[in-house]
Amino acid sequence: MAQASNASVAPPTDDELGRAGLGLAVEGQVARITISRPERRNAMTGRTWTTLAEIGRTLPADVRVVVVSGEGDIFSAGIDLNMFTPEGVDGERSIVAGLADGSADPADLEGYIAELQEGFLWLRRPDLVTIAAVRGHAIGAGFQLALSCDLRILADDAKFCMKEPALGLVPDLTGTKPLVDIVGVHRAVEICLTARRVGAEEARDLGLAELVVPAEELPGAVDDAVAAVLATDRDAATATKALLRQAPDNTLEEQIAAERRAQVGRLTALAAGMAAGQG
Ligand code: ACO
Repeated sequence: MAQASNASVAPPTDDELGRAGLGLAVEGQVARITISRPERRNAMTGRTWTTLAEIGRTLPADVRVVVVSGEGDIFSAGIDLNMFTPEGVDGERSIVAGLADGSADPADLEGYIAELQEGFLWLRRPDLVTIAAVRGHAIGAGFQLALSCDLRILADDAKFCMKEPALGLVPDLTGTKPLVDIVGVHRAVEICLTARRVGAEEARDLGLAELVVPAEELPGAVDDAVAAVLATDRDAATATKALLRQAPDNTLEEQIAAERRAQVGRLTALAAGMAAGQG
């Protein structure tokens, strides 16, 4: 699982962010990540995801909310399709190099995919609330990135598409579990195996969007959500997200035991705080 933030490690430089097709702006408790390769419709490469993982590892400890969006009127056209050519993307490893002639080691490739998945995994961290602000297409890896966030706030022009099966691939960037958790196995099969576009209104009806707003209102809606999240107690929010995240995999007995443990932790902290205040 993703590591906790470590403010002592240097975050990616502007040059590294630029080469990864990413923008990053951290202001107080809010980090805003922008997928920024407009000339490629914000298509992402391996470096995008290893750099995303680096952003997660180096986020300042103050940050509570992370907003992920795309530059312009599209979230992301998914993986840069040049990643699947033998030449690959300039300066980056090709995913398919050596597979045709058997010279590539499958275990090595699985290890590389695990590195890429780290770019998506950390968005589930309980100490953060992560928000995908989606305009236009979120295709393949773009859809999976949005699925990695806690909340999806969509413009009314947003469109999700799990394109991978249409390209002979499986979705492997951590998106299958949240998709199934949200819409169920059968709807997930239908969405993936038809690779159809799911529009904003349908996404909201399916639970894939918490909110849909006119495109021009998206920034304001995201700011409202950020403000609402920041108004809650940080430690309680962290403990609550941890509880909610484990709920789908727990039995009722396991979950209520986890609730009790978490509450004792909260009450202990609150009581200690009150005692310190009286002292
Ligand atoms: N990888 C590399 N380049 C891309 C990608 C991509 N995924 N998507 C778009 N581009 C490039 C196009 O090649 C084009 O380049 P050019 O100007 O040099 O010809 C430029 O971005 C603009 O693309 P258009 O197709 O002209 O833009 P349009 O707005 O008409 O369509 C759309 C946008 C719908 C996103 C379309 O580009 C598209 O379907 N892209 C491919 C989506 C895809 O299959 N992604 C992979 C999914 S699987 C996965 O993510 C694991």
